[in-house]
Amino acid sequence: MATEALKLTDVDTYYGDSHVLHGVGFALEEKRVLALLGRNGAGKTTCISSIMGFLAPRNGEITLFGTPIGGLAPEAISKLGIGLVPQGRRIFPSLSVRENLIIARQREKESEKPWTYDRILDLFPSLAERSRQLAGLLSGGEQQMLAIGRALIGNPRVLLLDEPSEGLAPLIVAEVARTIKQLKDGGQSIVLVEQNSGLALDVADQVVIFNTGRCVFTGPVDEVRNNDDLIAKHLGVFHAH
Ligand SMILES: Nc1ncnc2c1ncn2[C@@H]1O[C@H](COP(=O)(O)OP(=O)(O)O)[C@@H](O)[C@H]1O
Ligand SMILES: [Mg+2]
Repeated sequence: MATEALKLTDVDTYYGDSHVLHGVGFALEEKRVLALLGRNGAGKTTCISSIMGFLAPRNGEITLFGTPIGGLAPEAISKLGIGLVPQGRRIFPSLSVRENLIIARQREKESEKPWTYDRILDLFPSLAERSRQLAGLLSGGEQQMLAIGRALIGNPRVLLLDEPSEGLAPLIVAEVARTIKQLKDGGQSIVLVEQNSGLALDVADQVVIFNTGRCVFTGPVDEVRNNDDLIAKHLGVFHAH
């Protein structure tokens, strides 16, 4: 049986009295890409925040390679091996590219070929040219690469990407897609949240669709690619293929 890298079971999450996630459950297999899709406001970022420990789930269980992480502090969850590329990127604009990466460095994990500062710059040559520039002066695409690099340098066992293509021009979106494929080929387990279902369906193995805080579809990507009704109903766009 495939190893479950990340598993959510019956997760309920609230903002105060506002009940947003209702019994959410899905599993990401090791070395795979799971696309988490759904309309704006469906609860995708809330789910990511629940996994990262920014919002403790009120019910349910979250496990990382079998270890329960629900209710732990974000730093503990990050140390156990979950890396986040947050929605909106949130790099430090007044620090240099190099500083943004160095401060995110953690003890190199037991992986065979850990991510180092030099390997991140090899992955993103345009960042290498700008390593001393202030991150706030980078283009949107470069900031996104920096945000990905910053998550990778912690050598996460599971990488969470929250809308990495948001606000980027099509050519840059294609570059983000190539990067995600490269990471997957390197064996990285990934949860990819996207509004751009074309990008997500291109790189994903498994798909979970949220609607108003509930999982309304879970299955292999092929079942979604050929299901225009499902896409139109829950994603609100027609995916040309
Ligand atoms: N900080 C917050 N406080 C209260 N409600 C929130 C907060 N953030 C998001 N919500 C609500 O939770 C629901 C899910 O939002 P979100 O997880 O951001 O959706 P998505 O990422 O799928 O667009 C929405 O109804 C949103 O208004
Ligand atoms: Mg969101």
